[in-house]
Amino acid sequence: MFRYINLFITLLFSSSLIAGPEDWRIALCISEDPQHEMNVSWRHVIELDAPRVQLALNTPLAKFHKDRHDFNVDTESVVLSDSTEVYAYSSKMINMKPGTSYAYRVGSEAEWSEWFVFETARSTQDAFRFLYFGDPQNGLLSHVSRAIRAGYREAPDAAFLTMAGDLVSVPGIDQQWEDLFHAGAWIFGQIPLVPVMGNHAYYIHGKWLDQHSPYWRPHFTLPENGLSTLAETNYYFHYQGLLFVVLNGSEQLKEQAIWLDEILSREESTWVILSIHQPLYSTGQGRDGAKRRAAFLSVIDKHEVDLVLQGHDHTFGRTYPLKAGVAVQNGEKGTIYINSVAGSKQYKLEPAIEDVFAITDANKQFYHVIDVHSSKLKLSSYTVDGELKDEVIIKPSLNR
Ligand SMILES: [Fe+2]
Ligand SMILES: [Fe+2]
Repeated sequence: MFRYINLFITLLFSSSLIAGPEDWRIALCISEDPQHEMNVSWRHVIELDAPRVQLALNTPLAKFHKDRHDFNVDTESVVLSDSTEVYAYSSKMINMKPGTSYAYRVGSEAEWSEWFVFETARSTQDAFRFLYFGDPQNGLLSHVSRAIRAGYREAPDAAFLTMAGDLVSVPGIDQQWEDLFHAGAWIFGQIPLVPVMGNHAYYIHGKWLDQHSPYWRPHFTLPENGLSTLAETNYYFHYQGLLFVVLNGSEQLKEQAIWLDEILSREESTWVILSIHQPLYSTGQGRDGAKRRAAFLSVIDKHEVDLVLQGHDHTFGRTYPLKAGVAVQNGEKGTIYINSVAGSKQYKLEPAIEDVFAITDANKQFYHVIDVHSSKLKLSSYTVDGELKDEVIIKPSLNR
């Protein structure tokens, strides 16, 4: 009898420890050069023997993977706050053709994920769309799942998916990452992610610290073309006529403003979109973005940035086109700022902001689709039930 109990305990222990591919937190991530490269991260509770990423052209043939390429994988040991050791894997899929559909899978000979399908960016300035979400952070499995699924239903062809910070509330609690990746499920393996770091990445062991948590970088493989001191939290990429820049709103703001001015001074893309977690203009009651305005506003105005995607205030708001903090007149070019929230935590609205915000709302979950054309941008904001709440057309800068 004892032997059977022992066997049962062993099986129970093993099955909970060795999770299947649905628990591997597979994240397809944007690269610096999405015409030719994509990145992928995943993790496992065991150290895999010879982990690999396999890539093949996505053809209708059932044996499409006969002709495939294997990529090497970096393995990193990660010690969780309960002292459990897990393994983070990351790889870069390179030398791909622009505008081409590929399939990839991750794992090792012992076990593979399913094949995920994605498309590289085109070399021409064809129209495309992408998905933007505000803070997931709370109610990750219970609430964020429906926001991600509703966004996917609206734009299954999204070129990428950005989340404007506070992906989880307490990054040292591994279950929160588990819930986020269950909410994103296979969508996170199939649409390249563009994660933005929020202040909650700095909330460690119940304290706010100067350095972000060690659990961000193992979950994602991102461009390292921003400030070297802010690797994988400050970066940019180009996508079919768009420059997309991710800022870290928590530290080195002055240094990032100098860096931003430099890259925008040589930029020739039709469109420039920034994302920063902490907003320049707040919708949350009693909150203010004075620090970010002091750092970035003059650079944003100087280069006529088209759109700034933000989070942090757990409310929704979309500004008029602004220059120097004032709504522009007579169709003049200005920058539109948007705040949003995807998760369950909601704040009260700041009432005294009507001169800056064209529309605000509270106590709801949102998702957004940005359509990028050569002559116009369309920003569509939806509540999580699929109702179009706000739509605005943006014309390009004539001075870039
Ligand atoms: Fe935040
Ligand atoms: Fe937040």
